[in-house]
Amino acid sequence: MSRRGQLVPWKSAGRITERETSADEVVQTTGWVFNNETGSSLTLEQFVATGDQEVPSYLTIFGLRSPDTETQSMIEIGCGIGRMTCAFTREFGSVIGSDLDAGFLERCHETVSRFGKVDRLETLHVADGRSLDMPPNSVDLAFSYITFQHCDPDDALELTSEAVRVTKPGGKVALNYRGRSRIDTVVLPIGQFVRTLFRIPGFGSWLARRRFFARLGWQANRLTPDEIIGPLSPLLKDVEVWRNPKSKITGYKASIKEFDGINKHHYWIVATPR
Ligand SMILES: C[S@@+](CC[C@H](N)C(=O)[O-])C[C@H]1O[C@@H](n2cnc3c(N)ncnc32)[C@H](O)[C@@H]1O
Repeated sequence: MSRRGQLVPWKSAGRITERETSADEVVQTTGWVFNNETGSSLTLEQFVATGDQEVPSYLTIFGLRSPDTETQSMIEIGCGIGRMTCAFTREFGSVIGSDLDAGFLERCHETVSRFGKVDRLETLHVADGRSLDMPPNSVDLAFSYITFQHCDPDDALELTSEAVRVTKPGGKVALNYRGRSRIDTVVLPIGQFVRTLFRIPGFGSWLARRRFFARLGWQANRLTPDEIIGPLSPLLKDVEVWRNPKSKITGYKASIKEFDGINKHHYWIVATPR
């Protein structure tokens, strides 16, 4: 296992998912890495229901649906155990669920078997946390939600550029990031320290399973839209930065769009690869 600190909480949670006997138990014990909730009353069905609500609204608001959607292909980067993947398989003809953790991918397959269209699903292991092992121009849509904020900044930038590379010209990328807020002045340096502790063999994996420390350690970057769009601007057109109406975040030469369903600390880049 890589000792890169920001990967440890996900791989630790992934090992827990492998040990549990059912996907419901996975949600009950590792809910903390997905939606900050745990508890014996949680079920996989309830967890997937949250994705079922979110996916159609993002697809509609971002203009990602067309009469051809059911014949189109997409990749979800950071699919976890398939919370949103189920809904994607009901919308798209083929879906690639990709994640850093192979254990999550197995569970994603199981989740989609129960609540989605599993014949439309393939999985892809992002073994190095930064590259997508697939040819260029492969999919119509690359989508990622609450994943890039957990990556080392270089990995987040590399995965963004991979998302653009694997998307067909004229397709869409819809990628979610977390912007900087005042509390980050304190949280980010503490998070960096905690991630250093995660790298200590044995102790690090134990610590990463403690919810409080995982939450401190997993916020690994606060990239600005310009840092993301800048290097890719020759490859993109129709760049939109989507934000909450209370957010002031902007991107150079990007159209600013607002949707109150977006967390006020988050933003999305929606763009068309040339
Ligand atoms: C908070 S979960 C979100 C899962 C899913 N997008 C959802 O909304 O339910 C973040 C996911 O990103 C994955 N992840 C973290 N770093 C990654 C990386 N460098 N490459 C690919 N996946 C990564 C984790 O393993 C985890 O499954």
